[in-house]
Amino acid sequence: MIHAYRAELLSVPAIGRVLHHADGLLVVEDGHVVAFGDRADLGAQFADVPVTAFPGKTIVPGFVDAHVHYPQTDRIAAHGEQLLEWLERHIFPEEAKFADRAHADAVAGVFLDELLRNGTTSALVFATVHATSVDALFEAALARDMRIVSGKVLMDGGPATLRDDVASGRAETEALIARWRGRGRLGYAVTPRFALTSSDAQLADAGAILAAHPDVLMHTHLAENAGECAAVAARFPDATDYLDVYDRFGLVGPRSVFAHCIHMSDRAMTRMAEAGSGIAHCPTSNLFLGSGLFDLAAADRFGVKTGLGSDVGAGTTFSLLATMGEAYKVAQMRGVSLDPFRALHLATAGGARVLGLDDRIGALQPGQEADFVVLDPAATPLLARRTAGQPLADRLFALQILGDDRAVSATYVAGRCVHTR
Ligand code: GUN
Ligand code: ZN
Repeated sequence: MIHAYRAELLSVPAIGRVLHHADGLLVVEDGHVVAFGDRADLGAQFADVPVTAFPGKTIVPGFVDAHVHYPQTDRIAAHGEQLLEWLERHIFPEEAKFADRAHADAVAGVFLDELLRNGTTSALVFATVHATSVDALFEAALARDMRIVSGKVLMDGGPATLRDDVASGRAETEALIARWRGRGRLGYAVTPRFALTSSDAQLADAGAILAAHPDVLMHTHLAENAGECAAVAARFPDATDYLDVYDRFGLVGPRSVFAHCIHMSDRAMTRMAEAGSGIAHCPTSNLFLGSGLFDLAAADRFGVKTGLGSDVGAGTTFSLLATMGEAYKVAQMRGVSLDPFRALHLATAGGARVLGLDDRIGALQPGQEADFVVLDPAATPLLARRTAGQPLADRLFALQILGDDRAVSATYVAGRCVHTR
């Protein structure tokens, strides 16, 4: 089946490379992009193709959330703590509920629908320590045909209510990889929670599992909070820095994604770049937990690929539009002005690259999968006033500062409309 969409088109496939068609045509066949360009150029070639027009709207690639926790959906906006106390008080009790498959099924559905309402079509997702929490998420993602990468959390040093062991962690991880490999648009990530919740033996085992499966990612947290960093330094006195802890266990490579990376030495950034590892920048979470201000300019200087994460439940919104706005403010605090097109890259092709999926998603280029969002620059009275008659960069920036799920007029997954408002 072939279908065309007429609207303003915008895509940022690489930093500094902006593709824009004020009156564009996006042609989709069997879930893939066939053409992305000016309607004036493509109209004749696709004259017989049925067209849906979105006057006054802008089509961009579906957003890629490079770090989010689905089991924390119901604990967003939990008051009063920084990371380690917040985990103990608010998060671990919530995650314990995911031993119940019915609970996991219910939250997985709510979570994925919330992503789609916000224009997020792909995500790298933390589940819980329970293997069934991954089954619940993957089943719900398969039903929606979404590109979701997730994995069972490894945490043999977690609280007693939420703990695996080296053998069960490995067996369940291997079983999940075998059960879900090649199904729909799903992917697996070996997911040690962070250095503080796994034994040395389990971290080493995670490295071995990663090495045994060239098609899986590694997903964890790194250098988020001052208290966490101090505890890591105390437990691993021989390690050069926090990244080195993961490196010693074979967890730093081109398929590794590290959330946060706020408190980083130059050595660690150099090593990340050399290894080809990626960063998920999570500004709303970092402000909410008081973790610190990520240095995007340093990541760029060292050449470390970077995407954007909501990090719900520490993050305060599922909207990557709003997250782009917070990334702008964090950059301001570091004296750097984040370009709105660069912000869009972080939330689309940049995230896709971090997830190793930039050949398939993130830029709406011919051959890629047709995951896209129809944005409404006049979604609210204020947005309408602020964007009317403005140049593209101003409209895009206004959407990032003022926009959220209200600005997502429709979401398409593999060429199928899955959300409208
Ligand atoms: N570090 C270890 N676990 C977590 C978590 O659940 N959320 C965040 N933000 N950081 C973590
Ligand atoms: Zn997180």
